[in-house]
Amino acid sequence: MPSQRLSVVVTRRLPDPIETRMMELFNVKLRDTDEPMTRAELAAAMQTADVLVPSLADQIDAGLIAQAGERLRLIANYGAGVDHIDVETARRRGILVSNTPGVLTDDTADMTVALILAVTRRMPEGMAQVQAGEWNGWSPTALLGGRLGGRRLGILGMGRIGQAVARRARAFGMQVHYHNRRRLRPEIEDGLEATYWESLDQMVARMDVLSINCPHTPSTFHLMNARRLGLMKKDAVIVNTSRGEVIDENALGRMVRAGDLAGAGLDVYEHGTVVNPDLKGLPNVVLLPHMGSATREGRMEMGEKVLINIKTFADGHRPPDQVVPAML
Ligand code: DGY
Repeated sequence: MPSQRLSVVVTRRLPDPIETRMMELFNVKLRDTDEPMTRAELAAAMQTADVLVPSLADQIDAGLIAQAGERLRLIANYGAGVDHIDVETARRRGILVSNTPGVLTDDTADMTVALILAVTRRMPEGMAQVQAGEWNGWSPTALLGGRLGGRRLGILGMGRIGQAVARRARAFGMQVHYHNRRRLRPEIEDGLEATYWESLDQMVARMDVLSINCPHTPSTFHLMNARRLGLMKKDAVIVNTSRGEVIDENALGRMVRAGDLAGAGLDVYEHGTVVNPDLKGLPNVVLLPHMGSATREGRMEMGEKVLINIKTFADGHRPPDQVVPAML
């Protein structure tokens, strides 16, 4: 299929240089606002385009895929997570799905460590004091947090991002533990000085900090349910820069409010932008608006990956970052 005839619909605003390159390469319809598309707009886009470039706010479910036009052959996601796309249904319709893995790893891992530090070192409380003009100077006993060095960090999901978190945590002197579907190869485990736990229950019960770094799939939904959260130590904290659905947010809200957990740092939520009210207004809970990968560099690299995926497809090859259901 000659690339100049590929019609591409992009559902959100992308960095200017990426949009410019898209216009040079394809017959592209860009979004002129940064509002997510409505379901009707998505359906219309999928009826006419050869390639759709969605991002995580677009629910590309079986119903929408069923309405897609015959031309739609590639869903080139702008983002790494594909839990908003029914990849199996797309496959059955002969529609390829690609994503942008790898280029968000370091930024997301940085933000994970930032959340761990913010919660354990009580940064929001300190910031609030200064902003409110309530800070009266240094004190030997004020705003004491916990030292990261020597603490046990449990990483749930030891893929690219989990491993990047582990490397950072080692630099802070933390002891790294992990649970993953598959144990890492010995040389990787040794390099990270990481201890593998086959039993997630046993791991979470012993950690000072738990970091969620696994994708959201049917088997990770509510992996941290009320029972498992209840196994955590009362002075432990939990951070999540992956997907909100991995934690039962109601249970988490109840537990931090009741003092059954020392704190939480969240960049993602179970119900999108609707945050459980129990989690709000607490000094030991840091809430961010899904900004773990939000660097200018990362967004450009994501765009470049999307361009390469579409161009490779246009040139008659499989996109390098094709997602197949077996990977999920
Ligand atoms: C992704 O691409 O899936 C990330 O969650 C965005 O931060």
